[in-house]
Amino acid sequence: MMDATAPIGFIDSGVGGLTVVREALRQLPHENVMFLGDQARLPYGPRPAAQVRSFTWQMVNYLRAQHIKALVIACNTATAAAWRDVQAQLDIPVIGVIVPGARAAVKVTTAGRIGVVATEGTVASGAYDAAIHQQNSALTVHSMAAPKFVSLVESNEYKSDLARRVVADTLAPLAAEHPDTVIMGCTHYPLLRPFIQAALGDDVTLIDPGRETVVELATVLDYLGLANRGDHDGDRSFYTTASPTMFADIASDWLGLDDLHAQHVNIEG
Ligand code: SIN
Repeated sequence: MMDATAPIGFIDSGVGGLTVVREALRQLPHENVMFLGDQARLPYGPRPAAQVRSFTWQMVNYLRAQHIKALVIACNTATAAAWRDVQAQLDIPVIGVIVPGARAAVKVTTAGRIGVVATEGTVASGAYDAAIHQQNSALTVHSMAAPKFVSLVESNEYKSDLARRVVADTLAPLAAEHPDTVIMGCTHYPLLRPFIQAALGDDVTLIDPGRETVVELATVLDYLGLANRGDHDGDRSFYTTASPTMFADIASDWLGLDDLHAQHVNIEG
Protein backbone atom coordinates (compact mmCIF):
# COMPACT_ATOMS: atom_id res chain seq x y z
CA MET A 1 0.00 0.00 0.00
CA MET A 2 1.43 3.36 -1.06
CA ASP A 3 2.23 5.81 1.75
CA ALA A 4 0.13 9.03 1.54
CA THR A 5 3.05 11.00 2.99
CA ALA A 6 5.32 9.99 0.09
CA PRO A 7 6.17 12.90 -2.25
CA ILE A 8 4.52 13.75 -5.55
CA GLY A 9 7.09 13.88 -8.36
CA PHE A 10 7.05 16.62 -11.00
CA ILE A 11 9.28 16.52 -14.08
CA ASP A 12 10.03 19.06 -16.79
CA SER A 13 12.75 19.94 -19.27
CA GLY A 14 13.56 23.02 -17.15
CA VAL A 15 11.90 25.60 -14.91
CA GLY A 16 8.55 25.62 -16.74
CA GLY A 17 7.17 22.81 -14.60
CA LEU A 18 7.44 25.15 -11.64
CA THR A 19 4.26 26.81 -12.90
CA VAL A 20 2.55 23.49 -12.14
CA VAL A 21 4.34 23.19 -8.79
CA ARG A 22 3.09 26.69 -7.91
CA GLU A 23 -0.45 25.47 -8.43
CA ALA A 24 0.30 22.39 -6.34
CA LEU A 25 1.59 24.54 -3.46
CA ARG A 26 -1.61 26.61 -3.69
CA GLN A 27 -4.10 23.76 -4.10
CA LEU A 28 -2.31 21.00 -2.15
CA PRO A 29 -0.14 22.77 0.44
CA HIS A 30 0.30 19.70 2.69
CA GLU A 31 1.75 17.50 -0.02
CA ASN A 32 5.47 16.76 -0.15
CA VAL A 33 6.79 17.77 -3.54
CA MET A 34 9.84 16.67 -5.51
CA PHE A 35 10.68 18.54 -8.71
CA LEU A 36 13.26 17.60 -11.33
CA GLY A 37 14.16 19.84 -14.30
CA ASP A 38 16.42 18.53 -17.06
CA GLN A 39 17.91 21.97 -17.78
CA ALA A 40 21.16 20.52 -19.10
CA ARG A 41 19.31 19.19 -22.15
CA LEU A 42 16.56 21.72 -22.75
CA PRO A 43 14.83 22.71 -24.87
CA TYR A 44 12.93 19.51 -25.52
CA GLY A 45 10.62 21.24 -28.05
CA PRO A 46 12.87 20.84 -31.15
CA ARG A 47 14.02 17.29 -30.29
CA PRO A 48 12.65 14.13 -31.98
CA ALA A 49 9.85 12.50 -30.00
CA ALA A 50 11.86 9.29 -29.44
CA GLN A 51 14.66 11.26 -27.78
CA VAL A 52 12.21 13.23 -25.61
CA ARG A 53 10.70 9.88 -24.56
CA SER A 54 14.09 8.51 -23.59
CA PHE A 55 15.04 11.64 -21.58
CA THR A 56 11.65 11.57 -19.91
CA TRP A 57 12.19 7.97 -18.81
CA GLN A 58 15.52 8.98 -17.24
CA MET A 59 13.73 11.62 -15.17
CA VAL A 60 10.94 9.19 -14.30
CA ASN A 61 13.42 6.56 -13.13
CA TYR A 62 15.30 9.07 -10.99
CA LEU A 63 12.15 10.10 -9.14
CA ARG A 64 10.80 6.56 -8.92
CA ALA A 65 13.90 5.67 -6.95
CA GLN A 66 12.85 8.37 -4.43
CA HIS A 67 9.56 6.47 -3.88
CA ILE A 68 7.10 9.05 -5.19
CA LYS A 69 3.40 8.22 -4.82
CA ALA A 70 2.28 9.98 -8.03
CA LEU A 71 3.97 11.56 -11.04
CA VAL A 72 3.06 14.72 -12.91
CA ILE A 73 4.66 15.15 -16.32
CA ALA A 74 4.76 18.94 -15.99
CA CYS A 75 5.98 19.45 -19.56
CA ASN A 76 3.77 19.47 -22.63
CA THR A 77 6.46 18.19 -25.00
CA ALA A 78 7.24 15.25 -22.71
CA THR A 79 3.53 14.59 -22.16
CA ALA A 80 2.95 14.48 -25.92
CA ALA A 81 5.89 12.11 -26.44
CA ALA A 82 5.78 9.86 -23.39
CA TRP A 83 2.69 10.14 -21.19
CA ARG A 84 0.86 7.07 -22.52
CA ASP A 85 4.01 4.97 -22.38
CA VAL A 86 4.90 6.01 -18.81
CA GLN A 87 1.31 5.69 -17.60
CA ALA A 88 1.07 2.18 -19.02
CA GLN A 89 4.24 1.03 -17.28
CA LEU A 90 4.12 2.60 -13.81
CA ASP A 91 1.98 1.35 -10.94
CA ILE A 92 1.38 4.87 -9.56
CA PRO A 93 -0.90 7.60 -10.99
CA VAL A 94 0.77 9.41 -13.89
CA ILE A 95 -0.82 12.69 -14.95
CA GLY A 96 0.12 14.67 -18.04
CA VAL A 97 -0.78 18.29 -18.78
CA ILE A 98 -2.44 17.99 -22.19
CA VAL A 99 -5.78 16.29 -21.49
CA PRO A 100 -6.60 18.55 -18.50
CA GLY A 101 -5.66 21.65 -20.56
CA ALA A 102 -7.76 20.56 -23.54
CA ARG A 103 -10.71 19.74 -21.29
CA ALA A 104 -10.61 23.20 -19.69
CA ALA A 105 -10.51 24.93 -23.09
CA VAL A 106 -13.45 22.92 -24.41
CA LYS A 107 -15.40 23.87 -21.29
CA VAL A 108 -14.85 27.63 -21.52
CA THR A 109 -14.80 28.38 -25.26
CA THR A 110 -17.70 30.59 -26.29
CA ALA A 111 -17.17 31.00 -30.04
CA GLY A 112 -15.65 27.54 -30.60
CA ARG A 113 -12.27 28.91 -31.80
CA ILE A 114 -9.42 27.58 -29.65
CA GLY A 115 -5.79 28.61 -30.11
CA VAL A 116 -2.87 26.49 -28.91
CA VAL A 117 0.59 27.99 -28.42
CA ALA A 118 3.21 25.31 -27.74
CA THR A 119 6.64 23.99 -28.68
CA GLU A 120 7.40 22.55 -32.12
CA GLY A 121 7.30 19.01 -30.69
CA THR A 122 3.90 19.46 -29.06
CA VAL A 123 2.40 21.09 -32.16
CA ALA A 124 3.85 18.39 -34.44
CA SER A 125 2.40 15.64 -32.20
CA GLY A 126 -1.14 16.95 -32.78
CA ALA A 127 -1.88 15.95 -29.17
CA TYR A 128 -3.94 19.05 -28.32
CA ASP A 129 -5.95 18.88 -31.54
CA ALA A 130 -6.71 15.23 -30.83
CA ALA A 131 -7.63 15.81 -27.18
CA ILE A 132 -9.89 18.76 -28.06
CA HIS A 133 -11.59 17.03 -30.98
CA GLN A 134 -12.12 13.89 -28.95
CA GLN A 135 -14.41 15.98 -26.74
CA ASN A 136 -15.99 18.13 -29.43
CA SER A 137 -15.18 17.58 -33.08
CA ALA A 138 -16.97 20.78 -34.13
CA LEU A 139 -14.41 23.10 -32.52
CA THR A 140 -11.81 24.93 -34.63
CA VAL A 141 -8.22 24.64 -33.39
CA HIS A 142 -5.37 26.92 -34.49
CA SER A 143 -2.01 25.65 -33.23
CA MET A 144 1.24 27.53 -33.47
CA ALA A 145 4.78 26.90 -32.27
CA ALA A 146 6.57 29.61 -30.29
CA PRO A 147 10.13 28.25 -30.06
CA LYS A 148 11.65 31.46 -28.65
CA PHE A 149 9.49 31.59 -25.53
CA VAL A 150 11.27 28.81 -23.62
CA SER A 151 14.69 30.45 -23.86
CA LEU A 152 13.26 33.81 -22.72
CA VAL A 153 12.07 32.11 -19.55
CA GLU A 154 15.11 29.93 -18.95
CA SER A 155 17.45 32.92 -19.33
CA ASN A 156 15.43 34.77 -16.67
CA GLU A 157 14.34 37.38 -19.28
CA TYR A 158 10.64 36.77 -18.89
CA LYS A 159 9.85 40.20 -17.46
CA SER A 160 11.93 42.15 -20.00
CA ASP A 161 10.95 44.49 -22.85
CA LEU A 162 12.62 42.04 -25.21
CA ALA A 163 10.20 39.37 -24.01
CA ARG A 164 7.24 41.70 -24.51
CA ARG A 165 8.32 42.39 -28.13
CA VAL A 166 9.07 38.75 -28.99
CA VAL A 167 5.72 37.60 -27.59
CA ALA A 168 3.78 40.32 -29.47
CA ASP A 169 5.53 39.58 -32.80
CA THR A 170 5.22 35.81 -32.44
CA LEU A 171 1.54 35.80 -31.52
CA ALA A 172 0.37 38.34 -34.15
CA PRO A 173 -0.65 35.59 -36.66
CA LEU A 174 -2.63 33.76 -33.98
CA ALA A 175 -4.35 36.98 -32.84
CA ALA A 176 -5.44 37.49 -36.48
CA GLU A 177 -7.42 34.21 -36.30
CA HIS A 178 -9.51 35.71 -33.44
CA PRO A 179 -9.55 32.73 -31.06
CA ASP A 180 -11.76 33.29 -28.01
CA THR A 181 -9.72 30.85 -25.88
CA VAL A 182 -5.98 30.12 -26.04
CA ILE A 183 -4.14 27.26 -24.32
CA MET A 184 -0.66 28.11 -23.04
CA GLY A 185 0.55 24.70 -24.20
CA CYS A 186 4.00 24.76 -22.64
CA THR A 187 4.52 24.98 -18.91
CA HIS A 188 7.08 27.75 -19.38
CA TYR A 189 4.52 30.10 -20.93
CA PRO A 190 2.52 31.13 -17.84
CA LEU A 191 5.60 33.08 -16.74
CA LEU A 192 4.98 35.22 -19.86
CA ARG A 193 1.24 35.43 -19.19
CA PRO A 194 0.91 39.27 -18.98
CA PHE A 195 2.66 39.65 -22.35
CA ILE A 196 0.64 36.81 -23.91
CA GLN A 197 -2.61 38.39 -22.70
CA ALA A 198 -1.55 41.81 -24.03
CA ALA A 199 -0.64 40.32 -27.43
CA LEU A 200 -3.94 38.45 -27.83
CA GLY A 201 -6.27 41.00 -26.22
CA ASP A 202 -8.11 41.14 -22.90
CA ASP A 203 -11.19 39.39 -24.23
CA VAL A 204 -9.26 36.17 -24.93
CA THR A 205 -9.47 33.53 -22.16
CA LEU A 206 -6.04 32.04 -21.42
CA ILE A 207 -5.89 28.44 -20.22
CA ASP A 208 -3.04 27.35 -17.97
CA PRO A 209 -3.05 23.54 -18.27
CA GLY A 210 -0.92 23.31 -15.12
CA ARG A 211 -3.76 24.64 -13.01
CA GLU A 212 -6.20 22.11 -14.47
CA THR A 213 -3.63 19.34 -14.05
CA VAL A 214 -3.39 19.95 -10.32
CA VAL A 215 -7.19 19.91 -10.03
CA GLU A 216 -7.08 16.46 -11.69
CA LEU A 217 -4.17 15.38 -9.46
CA ALA A 218 -6.14 16.35 -6.34
CA THR A 219 -9.15 14.35 -7.52
CA VAL A 220 -7.03 11.28 -8.26
CA LEU A 221 -5.25 11.43 -4.87
CA ASP A 222 -8.57 11.74 -3.05
CA TYR A 223 -10.11 8.89 -5.03
CA LEU A 224 -7.17 6.57 -4.29
CA GLY A 225 -6.93 7.58 -0.60
CA LEU A 226 -3.46 9.01 -1.28
CA ALA A 227 -4.01 12.65 -0.20
CA ASN A 228 -1.65 13.76 2.58
CA ARG A 229 -3.83 14.93 5.44
CA GLY A 230 -0.97 16.63 7.35
CA ASP A 231 -1.54 19.99 9.03
CA HIS A 232 1.69 21.72 8.04
CA ASP A 233 3.26 22.74 4.73
CA GLY A 234 4.86 19.87 2.85
CA ASP A 235 8.58 19.46 2.17
CA ARG A 236 9.77 20.69 -1.21
CA SER A 237 12.88 19.34 -2.93
CA PHE A 238 14.24 20.70 -6.19
CA TYR A 239 16.70 19.00 -8.52
CA THR A 240 18.20 20.20 -11.77
CA THR A 241 20.60 18.55 -14.19
CA ALA A 242 22.34 21.94 -14.73
CA SER A 243 23.55 24.70 -12.42
CA PRO A 244 21.37 25.09 -9.32
CA THR A 245 22.04 28.85 -8.97
CA MET A 246 19.97 30.23 -11.84
CA PHE A 247 17.36 27.56 -11.17
CA ALA A 248 17.00 28.64 -7.54
CA ASP A 249 16.74 32.34 -8.56
CA ILE A 250 13.82 31.71 -10.89
CA ALA A 251 12.21 29.14 -8.59
CA SER A 252 12.25 31.35 -5.51
CA ASP A 253 10.90 34.33 -7.47
CA TRP A 254 8.14 32.28 -9.08
CA LEU A 255 7.18 30.22 -6.03
CA GLY A 256 7.71 32.98 -3.47
CA LEU A 257 9.93 30.70 -1.35
CA ASP A 258 12.88 32.59 0.16
CA ASP A 259 14.89 29.67 1.49
CA LEU A 260 14.73 27.54 -1.65
CA HIS A 261 17.74 25.35 -2.40
CA ALA A 262 18.25 23.37 -5.56
CA GLN A 263 20.55 20.42 -5.98
CA HIS A 264 22.44 19.32 -9.08
CA VAL A 265 21.85 15.71 -10.16
CA ASN A 266 23.05 13.50 -12.97
CA ILE A 267 20.31 11.32 -14.44
CA GLU A 268 22.02 9.88 -17.51
CA GLY A 269 22.32 6.20 -16.78
C1 SIN B 1 10.93 22.77 -23.95
O1 SIN B 1 11.85 22.24 -23.32
O2 SIN B 1 11.04 23.00 -25.16
C2 SIN B 1 9.64 23.14 -23.25
C3 SIN B 1 8.92 21.95 -22.84
C4 SIN B 1 7.40 22.09 -22.71
O3 SIN B 1 6.85 22.44 -21.65
O4 SIN B 1 6.70 21.77 -23.67
